[in-house]
Amino acid sequence: MASAAQRDSVTPDVQRLVGERGLIEAARRLRQGECVALPTETVYGLAADAGNESAIRAVFAAKQRPANHPLIVHIPPFEHLGRWACDVPEEACRLAEAFWPGPLTMLLHKADEVSPAVTGGRDTIALRVPAQPEFLRILSFLETGLAAPSANPYKRLSPTTADQVIDGMRGRIAAVLDAGPCDHGLESTIVDLTGSAPTIVRAGPITRREIEAVLNQRVAMPRSHDVAVPGNQKSHYQPNARLKRLESTRLREPSASAGYLVWSSITARSLLEQGIEPARVVKLPNEPGGFGRGLYAALHSLDQRAVDEIRVEQPPASEGWAAVNDRLLRAES
Ligand code: TXA
Ligand code: MG
Repeated sequence: MASAAQRDSVTPDVQRLVGERGLIEAARRLRQGECVALPTETVYGLAADAGNESAIRAVFAAKQRPANHPLIVHIPPFEHLGRWACDVPEEACRLAEAFWPGPLTMLLHKADEVSPAVTGGRDTIALRVPAQPEFLRILSFLETGLAAPSANPYKRLSPTTADQVIDGMRGRIAAVLDAGPCDHGLESTIVDLTGSAPTIVRAGPITRREIEAVLNQRVAMPRSHDVAVPGNQKSHYQPNARLKRLESTRLREPSASAGYLVWSSITARSLLEQGIEPARVVKLPNEPGGFGRGLYAALHSLDQRAVDEIRVEQPPASEGWAAVNDRLLRAES
C-alpha cells in the first residue's frame, strides 16, 4: 500500500480557500459550474449550482453517489418557495418562519423547472436555508440555489471540518472553503410535507418536539427511513473500523486494540485506570448537543488510530438524543 507521503505526491490536493478572498473564489468557481465544498452549520457540503446539470453530475461523480439519491437544495433566506416547489402547504411556511435559516430540511413537491438530476428523478425536492454566514453570503452573490450533499465519499462519515473534507475528497474535488468546525456536527432534520401528515424522515438538530410545537400537532418519526429517503440506508454514516454500542458497565471491560467513545466521566476514568492509552479514549459532553457536535470528528480521529473496533457508550434513549442515536445505529455494522 502507498504511504501517505507517496499518495500525496501523486494525488492532487484539495485547495483550502480561506477568508474573504477564499469566499469570493469559491463563489466564482461555483458560478462557473465547478463544485466546491462549503461549510454549513451542520456538516460540510459539496456544493454546485442547482440550475446547472453538468455541475450536478460532477457532484455525483465526486462522491460516487448513485444518480437516484436526491440532493438537498440550499436556498437564500426569504426566497420565494414557488421558484423551487409547488403546492407548498401552510405548514411549510410556518416551519420556515420558525427554523430558517437553520438545520431543518423540508421535502416538498418540486416545481416543473427544477432539473430531475437534482431530485434523483423524483417529483419532490428537499429545501433548506442554512445558518452559516459564509454560505449565506455565497448564496446572495449567486442568486440561485446550491445543491449540496455532505462532502464525503458515498457511504462514509460526513465531515465537520475542512481537514476531514480534504482527507476524504483528495483527488476528487478541487477546493474547500474553510470556515472552521461546524456548529452542530450532525446533518439537518428532514421533514416530509408531501404526504397527508408531516413526517420526520431523518432525525437531526431540530427535534420532533420543536416541530410539533410550531405545527401544533403530532408528527410521526418512523424508525426505518429507507423508503422515504433513499440516501439514508442503515449502512450509511460509517467509520472504517467496526462500531459497537455497549452499555456503560460492559464498556468498562476493555480491550487494548479498541478505541472508545464515551459520555460519562466514570466510564472514561475506569478505562484510563485500566491502562487504556488516553489517545484511544474520547470523552464527549454528557448532553446530546455537545455529543452530536463532536461525534463525527471523534469517529474520524479514532479511525486514524487504526483501532480494530470503536466501542461507543450507549447514550440514553430519551427524545433529545434521537439524532445521535439514529447516527450511531447506522454507524454500527
Ligand atoms: O445537514 C444537511 O442536511 C447536510 C448539509 C450539507 O446541508 N446535507 C446532507 O445531504 O446531509 P445528504 O445528501 O448527505 O443527505 C440528504 C438526504 C439524503 O438521504 C437524500 O436521499 C434525502 O436527503 N433527500 C434529498 N432530496 C430528497 C427527496 N426529494 N426525496 C427524498 N429524500 C430526499
Ligand atoms: Mg450524506
